[in-house]
This record gives sequence, structure tokens and C-alpha cells, in this order.
Amino acid sequence: MRAVAAFTAIMALASFAFGQVTPDSNNPLQGSAEAAAAGKVLFGKMNCAGCHGYDLTGGMGPDLTDESWLYGGRPGEIFHTISEGTPRGMPSWKGQLTPDQIWQLVTFILSKRANQ
Ligand code: HEC
Repeated sequence: MRAVAAFTAIMALASFAFGQVTPDSNNPLQGSAEAAAAGKVLFGKMNCAGCHGYDLTGGMGPDLTDESWLYGGRPGEIFHTISEGTPRGMPSWKGQLTPDQIWQLVTFILSKRANQ
């Protein structure tokens, strides 16, 4: 019984975490070197690199290190792009990644920017 209650609470928390992120959200992992390192691993493992390049400067997908963003460069906007995907070729990842893992990717991507 207790385990069921705990599981329900965890599932509620997980969907809460996805629904809770808005374009104005701050990255809870911002500036964490550990989170950036975990994001780097995910970037290779989930094959983000296959479309955006291992150095993030783009390929079939756009450059993630420059100043121009198609869908916004704020942490909450990048989170949204990764979780929901876009109509022109960016897959949705919310079925495969936890909110925490998406924040790790956001941390990694933003750590590659010259001015941050
Ligand atoms: C199948 C190729 C492909 C894969 C795999 C892929 N992307 Fe993308 N991504 C794209 C394309 C294409 C776009 C541009 C989409 C558009 O114009 O609508 C994009 C856009 C983006 C953007 C928005 C850039 C902007 O300028 O706003 C981010 C951030 C991003 N991808 C991150 C990721 C991450 C992180 C992963 C791995 C979890 C990933 N992508 C995996 C193809 C891919």
C-alpha cells in the first residue's frame, strides 16, 4: 500500500515537473559542472550530436552555439523545444528523457556559449 502511494506521488511529481516549466523558468541546474557533464553524455547517447554535431555547431540540425535561436535561447524555452520537439525535424524527447535529464542537456548547451 505504501509503495503504491509512493509510486503515485512520484508519477504526479514527474508530470508536475514537465507541466511546470514555462519559457520564464530558471534552470534549476544552471552553472553545475556535474549537470553539464551529464548533459554532454546524453547529447552523445541520445544522438543529438548526430544532427547538431559533437561540437554543437550544427549539421542537419541548427548550430546551438550561435546567437540566433529559432525557438528562443532562454533556459525554459530550450527545455520546451527539447521536450516537445518542433514541426521541422526536431524530435520530441519527453517520452525518453526525464525533466532532470532535459535540464542537464540545457545546462550543457548553455555552457557551450561563449558569453555565459
Ligand atoms: C533527427 C535530427 C535531430 C536530432 C536527433 C535532434 N535534433 Fe535538435 N533539432 C533538429 C532540427 C532539424 C532542428 C530545427 C527544427 C526547426 O527548424 O523546427 C532542431 C532544433 C533544436 C533546438 C532549437 C534550436 C533553436 O535555434 O531554437 C534545440 C535546443 C535542439 N534541437 C536540441 C536537441 C537536443 C538536446 C537533442 C537530443 C536530445 C536533439 N536536438 C536531437 C534536429 C535534430
